[in-house]
Amino acid sequence: TYVVTENCIKCKYMDCVEVCPVDCFYEGENFLVINPDECIDCGVCEPECPAEAIVPDSEEKATDWLELNVKYAAQWPNITRKGAPLPDSDDWKDKPGKADLLSP
Ligand code: SF4
Ligand code: F3S
Repeated sequence: TYVVTENCIKCKYMDCVEVCPVDCFYEGENFLVINPDECIDCGVCEPECPAEAIVPDSEEKATDWLELNVKYAAQWPNITRKGAPLPDSDDWKDKPGKADLLSP
């Protein structure tokens, strides 16, 4: 599966949502997650994210995030259409240490 990681927090560009063939993204206030049970591993979303937040779970960067994708996919509503990115998304892009800013 692919997972959404820290770089998405406070950016939420949502370009990923538009391309997913199985609509397996779920939306929180300032972060999106993938439902690993539904992801078909096509990889199409990975290059679409301007923040490079999406990685295959085989990558070291995905450690810790797989669990969060599973958790929030069960709680948050499904999203199938791109909405407006967060207003200050460009300011938060590439900023380190955003993990604690995730709004559950
Ligand atoms: Fe959707 Fe494919 Fe990305 Fe999985 S890898 S979330 S199926 S676009
Ligand atoms: Fe987040 Fe990137 Fe999608 S910033 S909402 S994973 S396009």
